[in-house]
Amino acid sequence: MPDKSHAVPGAPAPEPPTLEEPTTPREPLEPKPDQTGPDVRTPSGAVAGEDQAVNAQQGEWLTTSVGARLRDTDHSLKAGERGPTLLQDHHLREKITHFDHERIPERVVHARGAAAHGVFTGYGTAAEVTCAAFLDKDVQTPVFTRFSTVLGSRGSADTVRDTRGFATKFYTAEGIFDLVGNNIPVFFIQDGIKFPDIIHAGKPHPDREIPQAQSAHDTFWDFVSLHTEAQAHTMWNMSDRGIPRSFRMMEGFGIHTFRMINAAGETSLVKFHWKPRLGVHAQTWEEAQLTCGFDPDFHRRDLADAIEAGAYPEWELGIQVFPDEPDQMFAGIDLLDPTKIVPEELAPVQPIGLLQLNRNPSNYFAETEQVAFHPGNLVRGIDVTDDALLQARLFSYIDTQLTRLGGPNFNQIPINRPHAPVNDMLRDGFHQDAVHRGVAPYRPNSLDGGCPFHASGADDRAFVEAPVEVAAAPKTRAQAASFDDHFSQVRLFWRSMTPIEQDHIVLAYSFELGKCYEQTIKERQLQCLANIDAELCSRVAANLGLPAPAASESVPDADPSPALSMVGESWPVDGRVIGVVTCPDCPQDEVAAIRQAIFDAGMVPLLIGPTGGQLPSGIPLQRSFDTARSIEYDAVLLAGGIAAHADDPRVALLVQEVFRQAKAIGAWGDGDAALTAAAVDAAAPGVVVGDSGEQVLTELAGLLAKHRAWERVG
Ligand code: HEM
Repeated sequence: MPDKSHAVPGAPAPEPPTLEEPTTPREPLEPKPDQTGPDVRTPSGAVAGEDQAVNAQQGEWLTTSVGARLRDTDHSLKAGERGPTLLQDHHLREKITHFDHERIPERVVHARGAAAHGVFTGYGTAAEVTCAAFLDKDVQTPVFTRFSTVLGSRGSADTVRDTRGFATKFYTAEGIFDLVGNNIPVFFIQDGIKFPDIIHAGKPHPDREIPQAQSAHDTFWDFVSLHTEAQAHTMWNMSDRGIPRSFRMMEGFGIHTFRMINAAGETSLVKFHWKPRLGVHAQTWEEAQLTCGFDPDFHRRDLADAIEAGAYPEWELGIQVFPDEPDQMFAGIDLLDPTKIVPEELAPVQPIGLLQLNRNPSNYFAETEQVAFHPGNLVRGIDVTDDALLQARLFSYIDTQLTRLGGPNFNQIPINRPHAPVNDMLRDGFHQDAVHRGVAPYRPNSLDGGCPFHASGADDRAFVEAPVEVAAAPKTRAQAASFDDHFSQVRLFWRSMTPIEQDHIVLAYSFELGKCYEQTIKERQLQCLANIDAELCSRVAANLGLPAPAASESVPDADPSPALSMVGESWPVDGRVIGVVTCPDCPQDEVAAIRQAIFDAGMVPLLIGPTGGQLPSGIPLQRSFDTARSIEYDAVLLAGGIAAHADDPRVALLVQEVFRQAKAIGAWGDGDAALTAAAVDAAAPGVVVGDSGEQVLTELAGLLAKHRAWERVG
């Protein structure tokens, strides 16, 4: 006999509730026997499964968005061949309406970006400081990494002078961890309440909306010269870090100090660092400017091409570890001040895992545009500190995503979905994709069997908020005196640079301030430079045609940090691009051999000929003298046999630009005629000539490993 009480329709749940609150964990209840949800399908109508195609399109036929097959999408439904168009044309209305709403707001900052999928492998070396499971030895975690510029709009050029975002989403078994960092380890401001101010200053002027994606204008320098805590970040931006050669050749930094918690509940303070396997390299300023016009997609193309070519970019994740003392200071540096670094010489970066990016996204909008990072996406073993910049970020990202991604369910967008069970009691809202069951999305409940349950102790691997002391202090809008030194670390950075890097910094300040209209702003920034270093100030002042002021503050000296320099070591050349200038008269076997040798060395050859098409031997040409430009190549080879084209001004332009950019140049056989025609000294540093193409290539690769022959231009 069925239980009479359940024969009466209207029972709210499949089981009668218990009087006491259920406390024994169990799987979520099945729906009542009369209930089913819709078949489990993807938005495209396919049965959900492992195959990613279920999230794309299916079927042979063009359909409406609700699956009706269409016979014609080229002609609207009209009253007769000459119209008018009928309002009843549902297909027309749906097609146009959807198109009309295809755009979503671009990110308020970091709008321009490119991303890739990959895998992170833990080394197990962080176990002493954190219980985060994804850092355990050999644990592999899928990741999605997005690189970006800060200031420019979504369609702006990649190679502008700016900070680069470096944000990684780790889909760990314990939920999502987002490491949302930059390629510069310090930030403009010490308190997130000023973020709108620095961004308003850096964005285009609100009246004319110029200039796009750059800091070389009055409002930016007005703000940073008045607001001197920005000077550290500004100096980093004026260095070659502001114009990276490639996303693959950038460091990344978590910037803030984070707190790690180990299995015993002990805490440490840490800073995150990404170290690229290919080293840290930049374009020259001339190159960066040329690239903005010649290939505004340079960085996103480089990332995608490298992955497609199998030259998977890699970074080691490392941490600097500091004792979690009550004052949160280390070696006199306030760890809560995000405008300060801790030099690696004082606290070495300890490797804890390897990131490899190995798959390109299949859809920019679905993945790169809709990915939603949030510094508050943390996993067990990693927690935040009281850094006032970080605290504001914890609010800002999910707030902006409500608008950018159109409602509160952005974590259900495929790229944002965790790879861990989700049972969150969040319900409904725009774009709700889940078909929830049960009647009791509240706790405590008895109607849904008490589900979901609190994870209790370590066994359930619940997230841990470290029970650190919070100071009993009066409310105040103020900050500690330890935040007041705005110049000593800027001086530290300047004095850690090699002479060629200092030259570039001087030129960058001179360019940027030279583009300001107001002399008072230039003078005010020169005053800041005087406090940083007298020589820096006088060199920039000379370029601006202004007097160099004396320092207005006494600034303490700090030891230079050689680790900050980008120059002086050798690095792998994987995925580097070699332009080979050839012509139909060049010995075809030599060209073929060099092309193969470049591939064999893990680099990418781009063959350049007088016209497009192919060489007589059938080797395809990727570029012609018209389409080739210096910025695309990390080094250039002039093939034997090219002498007949040596006087072509397009070849001379290429050779001269590559020479000015301090890139390696090689010539074999009579290829050196192109050097002579371009008035380039074959004996200059970084230029290799010889009879054997392969010998020249070997030497060229050796030069390339150092990135540039800086002694040529120093
Ligand atoms: C250490 C300082 C900071 C770093 C390293 C940083 C880094 C980043 C990165 C990498 C992105 C792009 C994420 C992506 O690829 O989608 C981003 C976006 C963003 N940041 Fe920050 N940021 C910092 C400070 C701040 C502060 C202080 C605020 C606000 C108080 C803020 C607000 C935002 C917003 C609103 C976005 C756009 C997010 C979106 O639309 O999805 N950031 N930030």
